[in-house]
Amino acid sequence: MERIDKILSNLGHGTRKEVKAILKKGKVEVDGVIISDNAMKIDPDKAIIKVSGEEINYRKYIYLIMNKPSGVVSATVDKHDETVIDLIDEEYKAFDPFPIGRLDKDTVGLLLITNDGELNHKLIAPKNHVDKVYYAEINRFVDESDVNAFKKGVVIDDGYKCMPAILEVLNADENGSEIMVTIQEGKFHQVKRMFESVDKKVVFLRRVSFGPLKLDENLLEGQCRELSEDEINSLKQV
Ligand code: URA
Repeated sequence: MERIDKILSNLGHGTRKEVKAILKKGKVEVDGVIISDNAMKIDPDKAIIKVSGEEINYRKYIYLIMNKPSGVVSATVDKHDETVIDLIDEEYKAFDPFPIGRLDKDTVGLLLITNDGELNHKLIAPKNHVDKVYYAEINRFVDESDVNAFKKGVVIDDGYKCMPAILEVLNADENGSEIMVTIQEGKFHQVKRMFESVDKKVVFLRRVSFGPLKLDENLLEGQCRELSEDEINSLKQV
């Protein structure tokens, strides 16, 4: 059981004070009855709550999939740059969400955002080996020797030997290559550093999948949507 003013405030309907005023105006209905007592306790999982006639969608956690654009940082706050949280709707900001893992400022593509700390830990835990697939453009000719080096596990600049990665060359010539790479780790700048270890440079990077989820083609860069129940469950089973 939770106080109605806390529930509505957490769902982004204003500060406790503002919610109190909404209640006073008779705009809040719980199971068909208008209530004005801001301290009233209800079970938000069971009660049907309406504000100004509109039913609210109560949930403790939110799960968003974003098509991250270039130029924004994967953080909740930043002194200089716009963050991925700045891009989401106000109604979601009330949940205090954060990104699951990080994409570099210049990397685009699939980024998950949630306030579910437990799921976050599970998905970023190195022992869980969640597959992440990236499409990348590389400045030089990527060949079979690179594919084999990635398969064995390349050693990056700090001496760390990466886990085996699947590198697929989509097309390649002297001017550059397009590739897909699947990695199971999430080290800082990992894909870029893996290519540096074979003397090449990533010039464009897009994450196209994360575990069971694929980048949603309907999402323009900068947009996000809530995950479906099925998508949330598939992530929880990772
Ligand atoms: N690897 C990188 O180098 N950058 C990213 O943003 C993600 C993976």
